Amino acid sequence: MPSFKPLLVVAGVGKGGGTGAATARAFAKEGYSIALIARGADSLKSLEDELRASGVEATAFPVTSYEHVSLRSAFQAIRNRYPAQQYSLRAALYNASHWVRKPFLEITPEDIQAITETSINGGFAFAKEVISEYKNNEIDNTDGLGKRGVLIFTGATASVRGNTTTSAFAAGKFALRALSQSLAKEFGKDNIHVSHAIVDGAIVTPQGREQFNNPPIYDSQDQSLTPEGISAAYVYLAKQPRSAWTWELDLRPAHEKW
Ligand SMILES: *[C@@H]1O[C@H](CO)[C@@H](O)[C@H](O)[C@H]1NC(C)=O
Ligand SMILES: *[C@@H]1O[C@H](CO)[C@@H](O)[C@H](O)[C@H]1NC(C)=O
Repeated sequence: MPSFKPLLVVAGVGKGGGTGAATARAFAKEGYSIALIARGADSLKSLEDELRASGVEATAFPVTSYEHVSLRSAFQAIRNRYPAQQYSLRAALYNASHWVRKPFLEITPEDIQAITETSINGGFAFAKEVISEYKNNEIDNTDGLGKRGVLIFTGATASVRGNTTTSAFAAGKFALRALSQSLAKEFGKDNIHVSHAIVDGAIVTPQGREQFNNPPIYDSQDQSLTPEGISAAYVYLAKQPRSAWTWELDLRPAHEKW
């Protein structure tokens, strides 16, 4: 057993019913303490309360934006709350996302700015904080693991394919994928594991049901992804030993047409 308490940081928790929150719960079950970063302070607080009620050391770090200064101060607060003598950041998920689906000529400068903030500025800033932290970690050799930490990015079909209404969304997701691949190559030799997951299909969340007017696919796990299914894959990535690492994973429900 390692001598430190492993810590997971998740950015992008939304309303607490999606992939970010499910990942926090799944890593908590694996014995991780949890740092939650998101823009919605209220939902962050309720997830923090829920995790604490089940005995998990969880702390919410609300941010006003995903710009570098905000993420920097969130990480400073994380280091104060979870000091390095006792805790060790070992897993990180960048799940923040901004959804735009519009024909190209309707896309506004504000849409582009929001995409740039979440998928580019935020992705770079988050990765910089996490990797700087990982560089100081000892290699964890428990069960031949051989890594200093795992950094996972949530992608989408739009990470690899543009389409009629996804010019803005896909541009951001392509950027995030390019970042994750570059980081995987640059930091693999430091035993830092960087991964990108292409989530291909609708994810069942309360917000998704609302946004898309509750289509029947949400009632079938053959046709839609559950946040728990995705988070199980993220735990699997974290547990991969250094001799067989996945950079990119794709996840889709059994009946997805692709
Ligand atoms: C987390 O990732 C999923 C899948 O891409 C996305 O639907 C969701 O909006 C993301 N959460 C946040 C808070 O951005
Ligand atoms: C591309 O967009 C069209 C029109 O919105 C849609 O019918 C199709 O399913 C999309 N293709 C993919 C691969 O998402």
